[in-house]
Amino acid sequence: MAIGIDKLDFYIPNFYVSMDDLAKAREVDPNKFKIGIGQTKMAVNPVSQDIISMGINAAQDILSEQDKKDINMVIVATESGIDHSKAASVEIHNQLNIQPFARCIEMKEACYSATAAIQLAKDFLSNNPGKKVLVIASDIARYGLNSGGEPTQGAGAVALLLSHNPRILELNDDSVAYTNNVYDFWRPTSEKYPVVDGALSKDAYIESFNTVWNEYSKRTGYTVNDFESFCFHVPFTKMGEKAFKTILNENVEDSIKNRLMDAYQESVLWNRDVGNIYTGSLYLSLISLLQNHTFQPEEKVCLFSYGSGAVGEIFSGSIVKGYDKALDKEKHLNMLESREQLSVEEYETFFNRFDNQEFDFERELTQDPYSKVYLYSIEDHIRT
Ligand code: CAA
Repeated sequence: MAIGIDKLDFYIPNFYVSMDDLAKAREVDPNKFKIGIGQTKMAVNPVSQDIISMGINAAQDILSEQDKKDINMVIVATESGIDHSKAASVEIHNQLNIQPFARCIEMKEACYSATAAIQLAKDFLSNNPGKKVLVIASDIARYGLNSGGEPTQGAGAVALLLSHNPRILELNDDSVAYTNNVYDFWRPTSEKYPVVDGALSKDAYIESFNTVWNEYSKRTGYTVNDFESFCFHVPFTKMGEKAFKTILNENVEDSIKNRLMDAYQESVLWNRDVGNIYTGSLYLSLISLLQNHTFQPEEKVCLFSYGSGAVGEIFSGSIVKGYDKALDKEKHLNMLESREQLSVEEYETFFNRFDNQEFDFERELTQDPYSKVYLYSIEDHIRT
């Protein structure tokens, strides 16, 4: 029974800061951010775009009235939760007018949880023919002004509709997950920003990838050459590249290495201009790959999901014939290219306003054709 990604879309806020400008303001060589880390722009969210509104904005264009009747579960994956108790998916379910007899939950394990949501959806669908599951990965990555993690911030949401007979990517039954207790990046509830051991986090990512890849290839018998391309969790584009190179070693022919590395670059084109969107980063990368690489039906994509703390998972999907027609490349390119550039001073003002939850609709609510929903107010802890 074919189960997988039937529809796929994303939303990125309408503002960005260039890494050139940020590097100059922080008195760092711009090549550290552009080459060393591999980023060119960083999405900046206004106070009026929270994880809920971004999630709705990501999903609103792909859901038909029939989808809204068929969706039986809405899962929000996030590590930017705004409530310890109420799931963000409850509000998203309401705003998207999804039929009321649906299950709504929020899932957490750093940047990994959207993958757990997808695997849960796959298991659920295998027992529930005709039903659909909406998975939304929505996050705001913030490390603090002048912090080590600052150039790896970002904001955005990805929406995935999982169903039978999917139009984009059929999920194969081959996933391998790996859990390893490590304090590389975490977010104690008392803290405004994450606690990060940057160097350890890079090592932990690579260790997780290597361990899970070895187990995955042992169990499946696959080598890198069984895949048309690989897709990684992308905290910054250099991270996936470094991890990937560890398995594109001397045992792999140069022509295969070059083919796979070219496809990797296609998979991170959009992440390079957005930054880290935590739970959505792997899936933004998948959209970038699907829209910048030409696939033949049934070719396989290998996906590596990683969440600090740490959980890694590798699984694969097979391309469905006509996948490209199910994606709106023109909309995605316009959304990325029509954003408004902020100076570093403006970005800092936006950043501080977010910390203090001070709305400035006049400045922040620009003509953003991709935002049909925004956060208007928070009164008595009720978000409108
Ligand atoms: N030209 C070219 N390259 C340069 C350069 C220059 N002028 N100056 C420095 N570089 C290179 C460095 O050599 C280094 O490359 P290597 O990693 O290949 O050695 C790279 O630029 C970055 O330099 P540093 O490691 O010295 O940078 P840093 O100490 O300022 O921190 C960071 C970088 C650790 C990524 C930091 O931004 C950070 O802590 N970010 C948040 C944590 C993170 O994203 N970790 C990733 C793994 S964890 C994960 O994936 C989960 C998640 O989403 C958070």
